[in-house]
Amino acid sequence: MANIKCIGILTSGGDAPGMNAAIRAVTRTAIYHNFAVKGIMRGYKGLVCNEIVDFHSQSVSNIIQQGGTILKTARCKEFSSPEVRRKAYDNLRAAGIDALVVIGGDGSLTGASIFAEEFNIPIVGLPGTIDNDLGGTDATIGFDTALNTIMDAVDKLRDTASSHERLFFVEVMGHTAGYLALNSAIASGSEAAIIPEMETEVDQLAELINQGFRKSKNSAIVIVAENPETGGATGLAERIKKEFPEYDARVTILGHIQRGGSPTAIDRILASRMGQAAIEALMEGQRNVMIGVENGRIVYVPFTKAVKHNKGINRDDLNLVKILSI
Ligand code: F6P
Repeated sequence: MANIKCIGILTSGGDAPGMNAAIRAVTRTAIYHNFAVKGIMRGYKGLVCNEIVDFHSQSVSNIIQQGGTILKTARCKEFSSPEVRRKAYDNLRAAGIDALVVIGGDGSLTGASIFAEEFNIPIVGLPGTIDNDLGGTDATIGFDTALNTIMDAVDKLRDTASSHERLFFVEVMGHTAGYLALNSAIASGSEAAIIPEMETEVDQLAELINQGFRKSKNSAIVIVAENPETGGATGLAERIKKEFPEYDARVTILGHIQRGGSPTAIDRILASRMGQAAIEALMEGQRNVMIGVENGRIVYVPFTKAVKHNKGINRDDLNLVKILSI
């Protein structure tokens, strides 16, 4: 193990339910092993502006059940500049921080990877994002809670969809990935999932909807992953309305509601296990890795593999949505 005495922790990028549980686990595991801990506010921004506070066991009391992040978070575009990273490094050294735990998604871990290489700092990442789009891990912290939020919303939409015999397009987040859309479609019994990984033509969609809608069902719900290129649910609904005016279509965009709320038990347990693993990884001399979980076991994933966008969608899951929507 490198000579680590003090560990800094930060959350960065979009917040995710379970980040607080991860902060708690990292802090308490580090203290348990006699490390000093410092909390860095507002992600990389706080590192650059020197917003660093001492953390104690009590600093993380009563937070496991809270959504969001007590460390606050930010998207820090300036961190892509070498001069800004140099400033962050100087602040890190001045605060006596020898190693970092970064909790965040794709952009945050890409930043961590560059920073770690550039200044030879031991950094371990935790996958904190509702998108579940990081490689080398079956799940990311926040994904399960967001799925449950979407499922609850769609359950409610079903009542009105069925009463009015309507077709609903429900847009969910995902940042160019379709995991939230596909899995929430399965969990909510939706008729179709439109995801960026699969090109779906309007005709195909109409065929999919027709399988159920108008034959054995009086309403349908299509989950659409956000997609700036196609216009997401709004774009799709416009095209369907134009070509199939007989459908009474409505659009619901769930938005940032998906990022809030108390984390589920699954996310709290995942975050706690991963937080502990981050400190143990640093103690083993690991650096430049993200903690992942595969088939229930903790794994170390090189940053380069985690952020490559190569996770791949499970085609069987898409097929499942189709089969179960008849
Ligand atoms: O990465 C998490 C996420 O919620 C994405 O699903 C979404 O595209 C993005 O963040 C939204 O970011 P912001 O909160 O900055 O609008």
